[in-house]
Amino acid sequence: MKNEKLLYLETFGCQMNVSDSEKIISMLKEVGYQQTETPSAADLIILNTCCIRAKAEQKLYSYLGRLKGLKKQNKRLIIAVGGCIAQQEGRRLLGRFPYLDMVFGTHTLFSVPEMVRAAEQGERMANVDFLDNEARLDLFPKGEDNGSVSRFVTIMQGCDNFCSYCVVPYVRGREVSRRSGEIIDEVRQLAEKGVVEVTLIGQNVNSYGLKTPGELDFPALLHEVAAVEGIKRVRFTTSHPKDISDSLIACFAELPKLCGHIHLPAQSGSDAVLARMERGYSREHYLKSIANLKRARPDILITGDMIAGFPGESEEDFQQTLSMMEEVEYADLFSFVFSVRSETKAAGFPDDLPYQAKLERLDRLQGLQRQMTLKRNRSFAGTFQEILIEGKSRRGEQFYGRTGGNRMVHCPADPFLVGSLVTVRITKAEQNYLQALLP
Ligand code: SAH
Ligand code: SF4
Ligand code: F3S
Repeated sequence: MKNEKLLYLETFGCQMNVSDSEKIISMLKEVGYQQTETPSAADLIILNTCCIRAKAEQKLYSYLGRLKGLKKQNKRLIIAVGGCIAQQEGRRLLGRFPYLDMVFGTHTLFSVPEMVRAAEQGERMANVDFLDNEARLDLFPKGEDNGSVSRFVTIMQGCDNFCSYCVVPYVRGREVSRRSGEIIDEVRQLAEKGVVEVTLIGQNVNSYGLKTPGELDFPALLHEVAAVEGIKRVRFTTSHPKDISDSLIACFAELPKLCGHIHLPAQSGSDAVLARMERGYSREHYLKSIANLKRARPDILITGDMIAGFPGESEEDFQQTLSMMEEVEYADLFSFVFSVRSETKAAGFPDDLPYQAKLERLDRLQGLQRQMTLKRNRSFAGTFQEILIEGKSRRGEQFYGRTGGNRMVHCPADPFLVGSLVTVRITKAEQNYLQALLP
């Protein structure tokens, strides 16, 4: 019998899931599992899932369908589903997929090693209990060592905003801020291991600490993180426009280590739609924040998220979104067609726009963004930019890194430069990246 068991883990969805997956990998390493890239070689297959839109859910179901054959070939194979779909569906998944062994939720990833041990004994089980905030504070996923010079650090979990379309508060639970002392300790430990860039992550980082008496607020946390020796760059995501404060905006002027990029999802440019989305800000407030950010850091790059075809969105509302995009001059935009999530309020909103018309709006929106992205990228051609060399590109002999504004750059370099900030000359702009040379 072999001693080493093999784990194949696939992650869907956002950074929270990526960070949870890292934690799962490190916990399972301690009980003898090594990662494999080949599902058919695995003793344990874990799918860490996302249900933000219906498409994300369909992906899991077709994936699970494909795994049925593997289970037939290897009766001892353990198949597990975790993350947001698991949280939403719980035990029902075991009924629907008889070859599935275990289901764990977003609060119970810490019981994965125990559940795996039980599954090895032939047990089938689901645990998607929500924990109370005290218990969660003691169980924050810590970034595990993956050798990268740029790492994510989770600073909060859950969300209290209940935007009318969004499933996150239901599958991740209430918002809880991790203790600032632990965050700083983790950043220090990462810096000691050679990490030079940290991205602080949460669904709504602007409200960090506000609900915990005596805790730092987000701008104060940023100052502390930026002061950690060895850390050269600090980023954060995601910001909510309703909670963006003057003191956060001031951080972009005060903290040279804070990168000149903010991801600030607007979702729509129309006040009527924003109100039905229950986002808690107006177009005017959003644009004012953008103007203030540009004043604090003139070269800041803005990215965001937009939803096309929200229930009741008129052509005029949609035009407002397009005009806002031009005003903000997004460097990049993630955009989606509205997707009905059954537990959310918006699922009950009247919606007479055919799906085809929604797709057509998304297409127009993405066309406009592609032009703006390329134009912006071209404006960098011939300039010198500071990038952090992060590693070797998958393509050819090049290395890759990002500018402070989060533009991807490919550049020939030497392996010893990984982890260094270097100034490069941009020679060419493509739609998705910049090509550069060391000067
Ligand atoms: N907390 C972040 C977003 C997390 S979800 C924020 O508030 O900005 C990531 C993105 O998915 C959202 O910004 C939104 O644009 C999109 N999204 C969420 N629910 C959606 C739905 N039901 N249909 C379409 N897009 C959705
Ligand atoms: Fe979802 Fe809104 Fe929370 Fe973002 S802020 S996760 S969109 S409910
Ligand atoms: Fe998806 Fe869950 Fe993140 S629904 S976007 S993986 S919080």
